[in-house]
Amino acid sequence: MKIFLDTANVEHIKEASSWGIIDGVTTNPTLIAREGRNFEDVVKEICSIVDGPISAEVVSMKSDEMVEEAKGLAQIHKNIVIKVPIMPEGLKTMKRLKELDIKTNATLIFSPNQALLAAKVGATYVSPFIGRLDDIGHIGMDIIRDIMIIFENYKFESEVIVASIRNPIHVIDAAIAGAHIATVPYDTLRKMVKHSLTDVGIERFLSDWEKVPKVK
Ligand code: E4P
Repeated sequence: MKIFLDTANVEHIKEASSWGIIDGVTTNPTLIAREGRNFEDVVKEICSIVDGPISAEVVSMKSDEMVEEAKGLAQIHKNIVIKVPIMPEGLKTMKRLKELDIKTNATLIFSPNQALLAAKVGATYVSPFIGRLDDIGHIGMDIIRDIMIIFENYKFESEVIVASIRNPIHVIDAAIAGAHIATVPYDTLRKMVKHSLTDVGIERFLSDWEKVPKVK
């Protein structure tokens, strides 16, 4: 399973990337705004840290403008993937970007139908937002299971990025469902590596090691 980091914070990206487990990064306008920095500068810096797909989102609402925006973003670095919201103008845009050989990530997916349509226009990635579904009383992971079956039935090439992850259990469930990628917030990633028994174990080994007679 590939793990992407869902953040625009370069310090977090540097740290997680040094662990050797980060395959890509997803950003969105909210995550970029949180950093209080110029969009292009942040994206460029992320591309210099992680050698994998880096999603950057368009904010235009009309296909012609989305395509122009996407062309500009794609010039920043070869690894840029254009995040496009799922809606009719977004579908048109992803189809056109596919023809231009520009990779896309269909974002704000909340149903298997939306994922199906994104796959049909050749989106490189589809991003179902499971946490936001959980927030309103649905079982977000259900749509991941359905999407995986649909994509397998028709051998769609789009990869599923499980997005809007809120906790480590979401990552496990995504992996069990066979999702290609989980895009994980930094705090969730830290929780994934931690276990209280590991901490106690390390402490005990270190204190017992102190009791071992050292060679003179
Ligand atoms: C995915 O690409 C999005 O950036 C992200 O997962 C959204 O998550 P949120 O619901 O925590 O904002």
